Amino acid sequence: MSEAAFTAFPRRRGTLHAEGVALARIADGVGTPTYVYSAGALRARYRALARAFAATRATICYALKANMNLAVVRTLVAEGAGADVTSGGELFRALRAGADPARIVYSGVGKRDDEIDAALRAGIRLFNVESRAELRRLDARAGELGVRAPVAFRVNPDVDPKTHPYIATGLRTSKFGIPIDEAPDAYAEAKALPNLRVAGVDCHIGSQLVEVSPFADALARVRALVLELRSTGHAIEIVDVGGGLGVTYTDEIPPSADAYAAAVLGAVGDLGCEIILEPGRWLTAGAGVLLTRVLYEKGNDAKRFVVVDAAMNDLIRPALYESAMKIEPVEDVAGETRAVDVVGPVCESGDFLAKDRLLPPLSHGALLAVDSAGAYGFAMSSNYNARPRAAEVLVDGDRFAVVRTRETYEDLVRGESIPTEITG
Ligand code: LLP
Repeated sequence: MSEAAFTAFPRRRGTLHAEGVALARIADGVGTPTYVYSAGALRARYRALARAFAATRATICYALKANMNLAVVRTLVAEGAGADVTSGGELFRALRAGADPARIVYSGVGKRDDEIDAALRAGIRLFNVESRAELRRLDARAGELGVRAPVAFRVNPDVDPKTHPYIATGLRTSKFGIPIDEAPDAYAEAKALPNLRVAGVDCHIGSQLVEVSPFADALARVRALVLELRSTGHAIEIVDVGGGLGVTYTDEIPPSADAYAAAVLGAVGDLGCEIILEPGRWLTAGAGVLLTRVLYEKGNDAKRFVVVDAAMNDLIRPALYESAMKIEPVEDVAGETRAVDVVGPVCESGDFLAKDRLLPPLSHGALLAVDSAGAYGFAMSSNYNARPRAAEVLVDGDRFAVVRTRETYEDLVRGESIPTEITG
């Protein structure tokens, strides 16, 4: 099936569905706000990417940060995905979801000893090391545990990914990785450390990239580095190209999987390396919607607002990155559209899901779906304003399952106590 062939959220008889299940049925049964994911869409995206890289030795390590729900991770793992993790917690989740440790890579600027130890014990495929200080720490921990750690340096090629500044990571000014021109010295140090095995080179320049040229530019530099490292005796067998491939939220036209693969393989395909990919958003964004109900409509002479029961604590992307995400009524509504801000109940002016969006008149209880919310949606949610976090549902064909129950008020205070010796 091609990327476009699977319609995860079809509109049938005027009502939006997730695969074969009416979203209204899910909202009635599970309540709102609820994230709804399509298993079929996850599989179709994974297969399209795997097919684009079929001609080479490639491992798709799904970046759990985009959506770490166990059922989502399991769906991708069942297709053959490994995992890219960024914390001990994500490692725990990847393993819990059944990911093969030999297909897990660990990236992150601040790995703690306990996190390093857990990854060493699990026997993961690759540590993407982000500083020389971390390299020494990893060597010490591996020595302590009596194992050899496979390492790559995350190199920072100083390429502008042309995306939102908060999600650009490959610039000289960013906290990630080591500058690429310092890499030869850093690899020499790695080679001299007894408990490490130099295995690859890693690079991730940013997220939501909608052009291939920054990937091609960055990887051209990585290619030159691999050749230089090999000429000084390093056995480089892996190139980890990171994640970052963008998706359509409103009118972006990101490269296709095939165009992306052509750019990656054009740059590093002749090195004879295994290619590791770390896609997050591309696999999961379009596989999810956030389902929310209208509470009130209100307005004044300057503005109209639709107040819904989902808020910035459920979906922070519009507030944090000014991301414009498409919102559609679940049931077809007659009437003239007008420009509204879709806002949540949280006590912040930054609490909006959309600004100046054309929507038809919506009455109390009407359902809205925020599209392409399967990535960095629930994963970035919080309990701000003491709001229990949303439920998550996975649909497969004409069936659905709640894969995370809605939090309760008791969940909100779990772990808290009022110490009598301090407060009387
Ligand atoms: N690998 C590394 C080392 C990363 O830092 C990231 C994302 C990925 C892979 C996956 O990137 P993706 O394929 O999803 O673009 N919260 C932001 C996105 C933050 C991305 C952080 N790193 C958003 O909602 O737009």
